[in-house]
Amino acid sequence: MTHRHTADLAVVADLNRVRIDVPAVLQRLVDQAGRGAYTSIGFPGAVDLDHSAVLARLGRRLWNNIGDPATDPGGVAHTKALERAVVAWVADTLAMPADDRWGYVTSGGTEGNLAALHAAHRRHPRAVVYHSTAAHYSIGKIVGIIGAPGVAVHARPDGEMDYAHLAAQIRRRRTRPAIVVATAGTTMTEAVDDTAEIGRVLATHDPGGYLHVDAALSGIPLALDGRLRLDPTSGIDSIAVSGHKFFGVPMPCGVVLIRARARENGGGGSTHGGHIAYTGTPDTTISGSRCGLAAALLWHAIATHGREGHRWRAAEARRLAAYAVDRLTAAGWPAWRHPHAFTVVFPTPPAPVREKWLLATDGDLSHLICMPGVTRGQIDAFVTDLTASRSAPPIPRPRARPTPAS
Ligand SMILES: Cc1ncc(COP(=O)(O)O)c(C=O)c1O
Repeated sequence: MTHRHTADLAVVADLNRVRIDVPAVLQRLVDQAGRGAYTSIGFPGAVDLDHSAVLARLGRRLWNNIGDPATDPGGVAHTKALERAVVAWVADTLAMPADDRWGYVTSGGTEGNLAALHAAHRRHPRAVVYHSTAAHYSIGKIVGIIGAPGVAVHARPDGEMDYAHLAAQIRRRRTRPAIVVATAGTTMTEAVDDTAEIGRVLATHDPGGYLHVDAALSGIPLALDGRLRLDPTSGIDSIAVSGHKFFGVPMPCGVVLIRARARENGGGGSTHGGHIAYTGTPDTTISGSRCGLAAALLWHAIATHGREGHRWRAAEARRLAAYAVDRLTAAGWPAWRHPHAFTVVFPTPPAPVREKWLLATDGDLSHLICMPGVTRGQIDAFVTDLTASRSAPPIPRPRARPTPAS
């Protein structure tokens, strides 16, 4: 179905056509996305916030936050004041010390991971990067880009890192510093690696190390609960979150935060890029030109709801996820979730159900995600389709731990 629509669109959107009906092409895009909206419960984009005021007011102009977030570029068409406000809000929510933080609005979780791991590698050029097999695919790619050796650490069936295996792998390379990537909200099961446990492993490692948290999905909700903190005792050096997931911003974006200390290289110098004369800003970010509209959208999402509003959104989403587990289990389809999670995991349904509901699937496990804005009606309709499809397959339920990591 989807492929046929895309093929049709490719024909009418072909730029070599003699006559192109531009409004019709745009309308088809809107219709196509609209048709899939109700059954789109497999991917983690919130759909409850209205961002249209920002797009209506700012959408006609280029807002370019080029270069370092702290320095305004020449010209006035940028949103760096809003970007700095967003970065400060996220850092405050994470209890990050005000005098030991640096960050910016990125193009997404991937760029945040790249910026952080690039800084880590500059600080520890001889380090080995450790990440679990449940880490996001961007991590392996970034390890290749920065040119560091990477080691995959086992993950448990519920998606959390195997800390004994991490310790053993680090011991095998005892002369090399260790950069460890923890995940707060793994892509398939929304597992949260225990940063305190990883910190204990790193504390006994003589050449030292660096701890980055890829918190694309769960970073903001866990921070709002006080369950993810970058206070001075946390041992965490950096974190990356996505902006289009929990905040549902209608363009890919994110925030990266790095301890100011961790950005210094081993010789005490700084990883800050040099000042670029013609942009008027230091070149410290991965991208040069950066999307000021994304920063404004994030700012608007935060300003219009505040911490309490976003806490409520997270709590509602978790309530719906608990409801989905109950409904699926009662229907004979053995579902489970981590206690903090929006993600509900279950044995992979037959293809027609999987495809209709756009479920994320990895072999015999699939998930749906109760992001803010998903409704009970959608869960009920999904369960009805599922029970109509066939009886539940006998796949055992991995045991989730009762509480997420700090
Ligand atoms: C754990 C994790 N890290 C990183 C990413 C990448 O984020 P983005 O798509 O914003 O680049 C994702 C996206 O799903 C993710 O789940």
